[in-house]
Formats: sequence, structure tokens, C-alpha cells
Amino acid sequence: TEPTSEKLVELAKRRGYFFQSSGAYGGVGGFYTFGPQGASLKGNVEDAWRDRFAVAEGNMEIDAPTIMPEPVFEASGHLDGFDDMLVECTDCGESHRADHVVEDNTEYEDAESLPIPEVEEVIAEHELVCPNCGAGLAGQAVDAFNLMFATNIGPGDSDPGYLRPETAQGIFVEFPRLKEYARNQLPFGVTQIGRAYRNEISPRRSIIRTREFTQAELEYFVDPEEDEPDLEAVADVAVTLYPASEQNAEDGDEIETTIGDAVEEGIIGDEWVAYFLGVAKPWYDAVGVEMDRFRFRQHLSGERAHYAADCWDAESEIDGNWIEMAGFAYRGDYDLSKHAEHSGDRFTVFKQYDEPKTVERATVDPDMSYLGPEFGGDAQAVVEELETLALRDRAAFEDESVEIELEGESHEIPVEKTGFAVEEQTEAGEHIVPHVVEPSFGVDRLVYTVLHHAYREDEVDGEERTYLELEPEVAPTFVGVFPLQSDDELEAVADDVVDDLREAGLSIAYDDSGNIGRRYRRQDEVGTPFCVTIDYETVEDDETTVTVRERDTTDQKRLSVEGLAETLSAIRAG
Ligand code: GAP
Repeated sequence: TEPTSEKLVELAKRRGYFFQSSGAYGGVGGFYTFGPQGASLKGNVEDAWRDRFAVAEGNMEIDAPTIMPEPVFEASGHLDGFDDMLVECTDCGESHRADHVVEDNTEYEDAESLPIPEVEEVIAEHELVCPNCGAGLAGQAVDAFNLMFATNIGPGDSDPGYLRPETAQGIFVEFPRLKEYARNQLPFGVTQIGRAYRNEISPRRSIIRTREFTQAELEYFVDPEEDEPDLEAVADVAVTLYPASEQNAEDGDEIETTIGDAVEEGIIGDEWVAYFLGVAKPWYDAVGVEMDRFRFRQHLSGERAHYAADCWDAESEIDGNWIEMAGFAYRGDYDLSKHAEHSGDRFTVFKQYDEPKTVERATVDPDMSYLGPEFGGDAQAVVEELETLALRDRAAFEDESVEIELEGESHEIPVEKTGFAVEEQTEAGEHIVPHVVEPSFGVDRLVYTVLHHAYREDEVDGEERTYLELEPEVAPTFVGVFPLQSDDELEAVADDVVDDLREAGLSIAYDDSGNIGRRYRRQDEVGTPFCVTIDYETVEDDETTVTVRERDTTDQKRLSVEGLAETLSAIRAG
């Protein structure tokens, strides 16, 4: 039978969920437009995410530009390290992601973590072929390809810029200001929902791997020595975990456990990561991800991004394959330290001590007449080196002379000439670089999963039916309203019902064309939870009742017009 994905992609196009962009010009790989239903579903998913991860957690939300100047990505490491492996077929000229060639042509485990020469070996050894034309790829050089889209800011090319490959950097670079809004108090979180861009070598599987997509990210800033999450709030959340150790084991399998037990047994190493996994799981359930097709998988060491110390993915099962919907990474102080180093700005938070502390501070006061001639006038550089050394390595001053390096040359300076001394100082606090915990959600992949997991086929009155069992909270259209026939009285009541429902904030599809069965089918395919039909019984009842049909069971009930909006609103609100 046809895989659900193929049927879903066809339905998505026909009913206005999503379709490839710029179709009039032949379409362009890796770019999709969300149609009226898709835009609404995506918006509802984003709202649900905002409610849970920004509002309910007390985090701030920002909205930063998608283009950022080059120095940002020099600092973040994306300019140097955000590469995929590329292999080009000399026969048809098509480029492929080398690790995808490896994965698709063989069941080769964990190709993403292989270094380039090993991928070349696998390609040669297994005689792998071009997925496009079938020509052998053995002997082709595998290359690193940077995934960022480059542009110029303003005329000319003196100010290169890049489309951000993750929304996160828009948060990190603003940290010096954001910490002020948080009144310099850790922990605090900043969220952002917005577009990210990656020039994927081989965009695949409709909206699962695209070149422009939406991320919903939370950067949570903590003091690693003091702050602890409220683990009790999520300790009982049942989860399916696939830790890296199990993936490497011979008979590795997923582990069914709870967040609390997983932390206690050290399966999830970081408590903050565990906390957010515990928050995420019920949320995924609420928006319609099927829980028996959902797991958290830990990254193998070679698979982790350049900034991540540990990472767990939320994965969903799609036609027998697991896809990554979100990553929960422990980024440590990597990003803030790099931006501090490259920008010279302060990416720290002042941490006040409970009581002022008396601390010893090593200082230097070099004899400048001694430094002058010998160091060719560059005494200031020597002073700076000595100051840094005094702060970092006091023991270096215990011998008779201390060694420093200047432009690759090493110099011995007698300690007595450095003016080295240790003084006591009273300090109210210290500047610390917060650590970052990052739940990073891909909205498009979630929308795809929600649709895929909602896809149903059954039989109604001897006819095949397709419907989407979407959760009422995210369904793009909530009620279909149908006057049974073209009749002034029926239409007038239908108009009143529409007004009432719209006033209650419910999204409506008004449909007065075609036979009623076909109108129901159309809404079933869109995933509309309820349809209200204004029929002749309505007229007989003095316009007091209507037929309400439920999508999944197709059961029909007569409900009074009065109170209909409240009843349906209550269902939508859950
Ligand atoms: N800031 C961390 C970060 O960007 P990531 O794992 O590279 O981490 C996070 O991306 C999420 O963004 C992924 O889990 C995935 O859902 C989504 N994503 C990444 N690349 C994508 C692409 N090419 N198309 C669609 N979604 C993508």
C-alpha cells in the first residue's frame, strides 16, 4: 500500500496545507508555502508553544532580524563549522549529502559522525550509487559545504551578512541587553519563534528538510553552580528514552522510564535538559503527536553540533523512520564566551554573594625601566601578559624568574622586577558567564508529524473516507457551517450561527455548495472537528436547534442554537 506520507502530501496540496513554492516557475527545491489551512495549523501550534514555553514558564519572547553580520557567525562558529559533507556525481552533476547517500544506500549506522575519509571509504567499499542517476560514486571526493546563505548588507560587498541558520544567535548577541530586562537575575529564559535558513544540499521529504523553516527556540540561562530546575514538577512524566549507550549496545533497545528515574539513574546527565524533556513530552501529546510513535534519543558524541556538550532529540515515527522534531542541547558557556571574546562586550551576569567575601588577589607592578630597553618599547604588552599570568597561575611567580611569551618568543623576567604581590580585597560578588540550556523545536517538522499522526482512513456508509483526527486545540478550522439547501430561511439561520461562533473566536468554514455528504467529507479531510447543519428540522423547531456532527465518530446530535457557541468553545479550550 501507498505510504501515508505520499497520500498526506497529496492531501496537503489539494486541501491547502502546504505545497512547493513558486510552482508557476517550475517550483524550487526546499521551499514550501503553507496554504490557508497550513498557515492556520502552524499558527495554532506556535501559539500553543508560546503558551507553554514562554508564558507558562515566565520567559521573555523576542523577535530578532533574520540577517546578521559576518562577525556574529565568526564568533558563533557557524562560518567555520556549520558544514555538511557533499559528494557530486560526475555523471549527472547532481550534488548529494554524502552521509545521506551512505544512509540510504546501506543501513550504515550514524553516518553523520564519520570523518570525510571514512565516508569516502564506505562509498567505495559498498559501491554506493548516485540516488539520481544510479552512477557509481566510488572515487568521488567528499567535500565540506557550508550551509549558510550569504548576502551583502548594503551596496557593494564590504559588509557580508548571512541568513541566520538558527534563531538562537539572535538571542545570544542581545544578551548584554536582555540580562538587564531580567534585572541581572539568573535563571531566566528568552524565546523566539522565527525563520531559519540552511542551504541544504539535498532537501527531502517535503517540509521535513527545507531550506527555509521555522524554529521555536528557548535559550535558558542558568548559573551552573546554583540554579536547579523544579524536577519534582516533571518527575512522574513517563518517557521512552534511547540513550547513546543503548544505541551502541549489541541488543540496544529503548528504555521505558520516568524523568525522575532517568535522572536518578544517570541516564539523563543534566537536570535542566531532563526538566525540559519532561515539559515537552505532555505538550507534544496535547498538540497531537501520538505517544506510541514518540521518543527521546540521545546524540552519539560524533553527531553533536560544535556547541553542544550533550543533546537529546525528540523524535517521531513517520512511515517506519524516526525523524528529529526538536533538540534539547546543553550549550554550556560556549556561545556567550565566544561573543564576549569577539565583540568585547559583557556577556556576564553579576552574581552577588550572600555576604561580602574577602579574597586574595594577585597583582603586578613591573619595573618599567627594566622592561623598557630589553623589550623594544613594547612594555605594555609585557605588563598585560604578566597581569594575565598573575590572575591565572600564581605558582608561576614562586621561582626566581617567570617566563612569558610574546609573539612566539619566550622571555625570562626576574620575579623581583614584576612587582608581584598578593593582596586581600573585599568583594560583593563576581561576574559569571551563564550556561545555556536550549530546547530547540522545528515547527515545520512538528506540523508534518501532527498531520501524519492524525491521518485516518475508514469507511462510512459503504464509502471510503479520509479524515484528519487533529486535536481541537490546533485544528485550523473548528466548525463547518452548512445550510442544507439553498433556501433563504436556512441561510439566514446559518448566517446567525456563523456570527455567533465567530464572535466566540471559533474559526469557521461556511459551505453551501454540493451535497451534504460531500461537504462533510471535505471538512473531514481538512480535520474540522465539528460540522453544524441547518436543516428543515431547524425550521420546524422555530430555528432553535441544529444538527451537530462529530468528525471522528460521524455521530450526529441535535443541539440548541442557544448555547452552541459556548459548548463548542469549551471543547476547543479542552
Ligand atoms: N539552535 C539549535 C538548532 O538549531 P538543530 O537541531 O540544528 O538545532 C533544531 O535544529 C530543529 O530545527 C530540528 O530539530 C528540526 O526540527 C529543525 N530543522 C533543522 N534543520 C531543518 C531543515 N532543514 N528543515 C526543517 N526543519 C529543520
